[in-house]
Amino acid sequence: MKKLVLSAAALVAAGALALSGCSSERGGGGAGGGGEEAGFEAGAKIGVALPDKTSENWVLAGDLFTEGLEEAGFEPDVQYAPASNTVAEQQNQIQAMVTGGAKVIVIGAKDGKQLATQVQAAKDAGAYVIAYDRLIENTEAVDYYVAFDNFKVGQLQGQALLEGLEARIDHDAPYNIELFSGSPDDANSAVFFEGAMDVLQPKIDDGTLVVASGQTSLSQTATEGWLAENAQSRMDSILTSTYSDKELDGVLSPNDTLARAILTSTEQAGKPTPVVTGQDSEVESVRSIMEGVQYSTINKDTTLLVEQTIKMIEQLQAGEEVDVNDTEQYDNGAKVVPSYLLEPVIVTQENAAEAYENVPSLLEIVQEYQ
Ligand code: BGC
Repeated sequence: MKKLVLSAAALVAAGALALSGCSSERGGGGAGGGGEEAGFEAGAKIGVALPDKTSENWVLAGDLFTEGLEEAGFEPDVQYAPASNTVAEQQNQIQAMVTGGAKVIVIGAKDGKQLATQVQAAKDAGAYVIAYDRLIENTEAVDYYVAFDNFKVGQLQGQALLEGLEARIDHDAPYNIELFSGSPDDANSAVFFEGAMDVLQPKIDDGTLVVASGQTSLSQTATEGWLAENAQSRMDSILTSTYSDKELDGVLSPNDTLARAILTSTEQAGKPTPVVTGQDSEVESVRSIMEGVQYSTINKDTTLLVEQTIKMIEQLQAGEEVDVNDTEQYDNGAKVVPSYLLEPVIVTQENAAEAYENVPSLLEIVQEYQ
């Protein structure tokens, strides 16, 4: 990958520009690449290949794609990669979708660096490929990317951590914190981390924050497979090695699954509850936030992301311009992938009711506590 993560300033500038308006691109990526051949039959097969069920958002996305694509008159084929041999199985699933005649293949990649062959096969067969939530790297054959603004997610997490420390910790700075990032095979992990460090690094530099373990790089903080047990055991060992004689005030966690694992670790070690961030608005974490345990999460409304993806598919089917609002941020190493980025929303106890205004299932939970 040449340059997925641009300088922070460039990204923010690009993001601001990109989100201020949206442009359209002729859907000429598939069908041999000729714009004049854009469009395909109504009712066509649409493949959706999702990586796993470790986070609620993936489970929900599968259901929403099946319903939404059927409603739009397509024939959906939604597949999850199994828990073992996941990368190879996802490759096989995508290849089978190509062979089966899918006209668009939506991919939530398990490992975005290992799909170039299958994505090229889709292109050669005249199908379009949309990278969903996670970028597919090192191939020109990916047509579009649709996601929440990942850099912004990280920035919001960094800001929430700072605010939470001030609000919840009963001493002044310096605060002891630890950093967690996501799985190294997910292109999002680096972008979330860069976004968070854009906010946190200056506070580390000026002494407001201290990463007492000294583990501050992406590789040192990584959580293989986004698995809760890996975050929990890393937190356990950091508590043992570094916090026998000091308190841990806060933890940057890239998502809710890992946030709860980190909180389990601190609780089992008999430590006071640190300020912990999250992402995804998982039911258990929303409850935890309302109970005053987890500090924050991010609302990335899966319904909106799936709706935007289906809109793209409808535009491709009709041979219309495809809406994109960013043509700068997501260089996958082979091309800058035209993207549609949605705005993530930070959620804490204070704004939860407002943040979930349009998400009835979560609003109901919030109201139980009010
Ligand atoms: C998604 C997050 C999710 C994580 C683990 C990331 O690519 O953007 O929403 O928490 O994967 O599934």
